[in-house]
Amino acid sequence: MKTFYSCRCFYTKNIFLKQFGIHIQYDNKKQFISQFEQVLRDKGCNTEEQLEDVIQKIQEEIDRRQSLGRASLARQRIISATYQPRHEDIYKLKEDYLAPEFLDLVAQCKSEGVTADAVMKRLQPQDGSRLYKFHVFQQSFCNLFLEEIEHFENSDCPKGRPNTMNKYGILLNELGFDEDFIIPLRKHYLSPITSILFPDWGGNDLDSHKAFIVTYKLGDDLDLSYHYDNAEITLNIALGKEFTGGTLYFGDMRTERRTDRYSRYDHQPMFGLLHRGQHLHGAMPIEDGERYNLIVWMRSSRVRNQRCPMCDDEPDLVEAVGFGDGFTREDSVVDVCTAS
Ligand SMILES: [Fe+2]
Ligand SMILES: [Zn+2]
Repeated sequence: MKTFYSCRCFYTKNIFLKQFGIHIQYDNKKQFISQFEQVLRDKGCNTEEQLEDVIQKIQEEIDRRQSLGRASLARQRIISATYQPRHEDIYKLKEDYLAPEFLDLVAQCKSEGVTADAVMKRLQPQDGSRLYKFHVFQQSFCNLFLEEIEHFENSDCPKGRPNTMNKYGILLNELGFDEDFIIPLRKHYLSPITSILFPDWGGNDLDSHKAFIVTYKLGDDLDLSYHYDNAEITLNIALGKEFTGGTLYFGDMRTERRTDRYSRYDHQPMFGLLHRGQHLHGAMPIEDGERYNLIVWMRSSRVRNQRCPMCDDEPDLVEAVGFGDGFTREDSVVDVCTAS
């Protein structure tokens, strides 16, 4: 019943320059040059032409962001009208797809009187890291899902890209996985877990998400620079296929850059890693094979309406399609109980 919004900062901030591995802000050319010319020089952007080229790329990225909502809706329409799924039945979540250990974990989290300590004892996170690994999917489901993803990749359908940092991947709402798969997965299975483990990060009232597949293969994207997610809580599930390398590393929370200690996490197919979106992380290069991961960025409007995690300000709302970036206008919530 909610209308979701994005924050205006999406058009100017956190623009990732892959070539230089930095995020920049672009309000206008003058501000950009005075703020970033030296940084870029230090990273090897030495000539006037190179700088102009960077600015040109930034402007293209801003244009892309401004037309993103419309372009996504247009792709969604084409996909739903023309795409022939290979495995139609997997678009609807069934418990058969989920690992028994996962169902057990969810049941524990839903049980009366459960404590975070009891759940943590089961998941055994590295000391203080708040990184939680658990089995999510059955192998048989991962196989079908990967086949479906590849079938879509090989189709003529238009494809968006997950975010500015991952060029290769698929937005699952465009493919039609939101309604009957990701939404019930979030509401009925993930929320009970996040309520126990991350109540301080909106885990007990997640109300939207962005779900996508990222792919890493030799020749395409290999690694992922150090960053944080536009999410309160992220679930990152390895689907396969065969790969070596691609280890994730986690440092500090974004607002607490204190140490240079990192926690390492090696992906294991069918297993997910649950972490706070603002926990800084990156991925080492894949060394061989292909890696497909399902990422669910889960959001709580209650938390992000206070402060946009991308600009650290009160969000300046702009209209969006679908879940937007998960912000709501407090007065836009229709309370169905009192309205009826
Ligand atoms: Fe991430
Ligand atoms: Zn913002």
